[in-house]
Amino acid sequence: MIVCVCNNISDREIRQAVELGLTSMEELRRDLGVATCCGQCFSCAEEILSEHLAATAEIQETVLKRPVFSN
Ligand code: FES
Repeated sequence: MIVCVCNNISDREIRQAVELGLTSMEELRRDLGVATCCGQCFSCAEEILSEHLAATAEIQETVLKRPVFSN
């Protein structure tokens, strides 16, 4: 789904950016150009950012809690 029509940025690209380490709307604006034109996409992009940050943190926490087995 295209989130930012002005800059042709999809929700998938926003999620990928989060996985590469972006954590704020300022970084999304700087690196992808999200919400740098009309601004109509700001709240939707922010919601996708927040949801994916939370999901990514949950996955990292799960991975860190896994027991390490050694032979
Ligand atoms: S839709 Fe994103 S800046 Fe216009």
